[in-house]
Amino acid sequence: MGESAKKPWSGRFDKPSESAMEQFNASIGFDRRLYRADIAGSRAQAKALAKIGVLTAQELDRILQALDQVEAEIASGRLALAAHLEDIHMAVEARLIEIVGEVGGKLHTGRSRNDQVALDERLYLREAARETAAGIDRLQTVLLDFAERHIDALMPGYTHLQQAQPVRLSHYTMALFWMLDRDRGRFDACAERADAMPLGSGAFAGSAYPIDREFLASELGFSRITPNSIDAVSDRDYLLEYMAAAAILIGHLSRFCEDLIVWSSSEFRFIELADAYSTGSSMMPQKKNPDSLELVRGKSGRVYGNLMALLTVMKGLPLTYSKDLQEDKEPFFDTVDTVHQVLEVFTGAWRTMTVLTDRMREALDGTVVATDLADYLVRKGLPFRETHRIVGRLVRSALSQGRRLDELDLRTLHSECDLFEADVAESLCAEASVNRRELDGGTGYEAVAAQIRGGRQLLSRRTRRTEG
Ligand code: ARG
Repeated sequence: MGESAKKPWSGRFDKPSESAMEQFNASIGFDRRLYRADIAGSRAQAKALAKIGVLTAQELDRILQALDQVEAEIASGRLALAAHLEDIHMAVEARLIEIVGEVGGKLHTGRSRNDQVALDERLYLREAARETAAGIDRLQTVLLDFAERHIDALMPGYTHLQQAQPVRLSHYTMALFWMLDRDRGRFDACAERADAMPLGSGAFAGSAYPIDREFLASELGFSRITPNSIDAVSDRDYLLEYMAAAAILIGHLSRFCEDLIVWSSSEFRFIELADAYSTGSSMMPQKKNPDSLELVRGKSGRVYGNLMALLTVMKGLPLTYSKDLQEDKEPFFDTVDTVHQVLEVFTGAWRTMTVLTDRMREALDGTVVATDLADYLVRKGLPFRETHRIVGRLVRSALSQGRRLDELDLRTLHSECDLFEADVAESLCAEASVNRRELDGGTGYEAVAAQIRGGRQLLSRRTRRTEG
């Protein structure tokens, strides 16, 4: 027999695995990144076993020391993690036994890889969610600084990608800030729900040893233990939640990428991306392409796909554990890596882009204040529906004369309605339009400044919480 004879489960087998099967079955190629979590779990497990007399104090010491050594060997890349070792759990155990001898074989008492992998994933997710949240905080800070800096800049707001009403660039920016805030809440909530310690579930029926689960939870920094061993080894909803939160997050970023890509075209020229976040063309010397933003938009495909992949794996799986569950890791890890990369690049691209605020202001077309003109007549006492019709006709005549709405003289205005007076002119400029929207959540100066203040308070409360 070859390497396969070394498998801890080989006792029941006559023949070794086919090599294609061995490769197919192995998860070590991608679950190696769980090694820190796995070893942390083993330390806690060893201490819990010592508490119930399965390990003596000396055995515990030797095992803990050896686990430190295994961790250092993996961290430095000195330990070869070959496919015949199957997965990270068996690889760590195999090396442990090599170091301490037979006594290492006691560590797996009352434990299964089923509760072990659930533990490792929850520990890994906790770190990942923390990092994701920090990335969101950094982006939110950049957005606040940007919104503050550009509070006076006006831009055309769009519906159907047609100019609709003028808004502050800051107001537009804060829209993303609040979307991200809900995203962060989703990651926090997912980490909070995953904060339950599964060890002691064994294969699925619960360990036959009276292991102190509350002790394990506090050793590993969990606030509670999982309440049902079958549930604990069967579900992967914690990974699904992270991936769903990531899908919604990248969907948000992708829409802003789309706007910025359009804005960086020569037709719009509202913004220019920094060289550091653009690339050139191999053929057309003049090109400066917004590849950073296009890739963020493009990566949404894989993040959505990863969520779909795991949802599909889970659907219809009989309880409790089946090897199908091993397929949870690659999509999850890929989502974690992608989201962190995306947050970093998007944040950098936004922070370093130049806004051509004059261009944005000039781009406001001659009819973008039409709603304000209708509102003017409402203030003179007409019902909005009627003012809408009147202004619609004025827009038509302005367009046919090639003029802006604010260029129409009183005589022309009176041809549609005699309630217009000289003060109409000042109510038609874009500044007046935005500043009439001072209600909470509106695009007026004070309203946007209040949003920015609110955002700052939120972030500083958060920093205090993580530091305190
Ligand atoms: N590598 C496995 C996984 O990722 C660990 C659990 C194996 N359990 C088992 N009963 N074969 O799911």
